[in-house]
Amino acid sequence: MSSVWAYNGLLPGPTIRASRGSTAQLNLVNGLSQETITHWHGMIVDHLNDGHPRYAIQPGGTYSYNFAINQRAAMNWYHPHPDMLTGEQVAMGLAGAFIVNDSVEGALGLPSGVYEVPLVIRDAKFDTAWNMLYKPRSGGFLGDTPLVNGTLNPKLDVDTALYRFRVLNGSNSRIFGLTLGNNEPFTLIGNDGGLLETSVPVTRVDMANGERVDLLIDFRQMAVGSSVLLRDLRSGWDFLQFVVARKVNDTSTIPTSLSTITRLSNPVRTRNFSFDGMSKINGKEYDINRIDFQVPFGETELWRFTTAGNAPHPVHVHGASFQVQSRSGGRGQLYPWERGWKDTVLLEDRETVEVLICFDAFKGLYLLHCHKLEHEDMGMMSNFQVV
Ligand code: C2O
Ligand code: CU
Repeated sequence: MSSVWAYNGLLPGPTIRASRGSTAQLNLVNGLSQETITHWHGMIVDHLNDGHPRYAIQPGGTYSYNFAINQRAAMNWYHPHPDMLTGEQVAMGLAGAFIVNDSVEGALGLPSGVYEVPLVIRDAKFDTAWNMLYKPRSGGFLGDTPLVNGTLNPKLDVDTALYRFRVLNGSNSRIFGLTLGNNEPFTLIGNDGGLLETSVPVTRVDMANGERVDLLIDFRQMAVGSSVLLRDLRSGWDFLQFVVARKVNDTSTIPTSLSTITRLSNPVRTRNFSFDGMSKINGKEYDINRIDFQVPFGETELWRFTTAGNAPHPVHVHGASFQVQSRSGGRGQLYPWERGWKDTVLLEDRETVEVLICFDAFKGLYLLHCHKLEHEDMGMMSNFQVV
């Protein structure tokens, strides 16, 4: 048992599931001794429901959310978003998964029930009594211990079956390079914005904090009693041990064609965003009261994110998903998990990433920021208004 800050007393917070077409009604009651507000990362909601820091509530206060769910099936993420306090609140345990289902996904017959497992992976730091600790560093908080769904050194007994793992990097700043210990590929089927057009085998997935991947792992050829590790190639950590515990007869097939992605094209204007130092976008630190730019509703724009250094900067946008077009400088390429719809994209040193984006759901106040939470808290964030 350790002392953490948690939603409904759970670490991570309860997994919320909802179908497209339904309405979410959620009450946030602030039991902390500092202000907070919850943002539904990846959910396309109006700005009063988006958890903007302007709507933070004081200790003892309540915020009632009520929004219609009208977006593609995907695994999203909820976490606090108060001005300058997000890093501490997330590191102390406040975060959880929000899964949206829809009929397109339902028709594919993907692994479900016990065969569909959300994995919220993060790093953490503890004191000698195993209480969660937060020590901000301007380069980003780094914990020394991996936690999978809030558990240390986890093991998962699996059947000889095909499994679907919904992975979220819930770290403040740590980037993962996921791989399987036996060098077998995962089948990548989705990311931040839901299912890709087609499935693709990959032996490694790099994910920044805030990014999600949807992976199938096939244990059908493995012998009962054998095991395989889910590992992080960057830190060298083992995240999770899968132990094949039971023989079953699973005849499901891995679908190749998954969903339709309507391509954005012909942007009407370009905006440049430079992620400067550790606290600025286009030379400015965040000011909760300043609106930095206005975006016309329903027009496709090209947004160009660039940085000279102090990366990684995982760039995240509220209010719309985007489609990544190109990466130049740095790694100089796009990866399979960057296809389709995204809401967070990784910018390494000297990289320029271009995305197409169109705000066609709501007008109102939204945010663009670096999702390294210590950079966000220091001011690498910008308010914009969809008009
Ligand atoms: Cu996951 Cu503005 O945040
Ligand atoms: Cu950053």
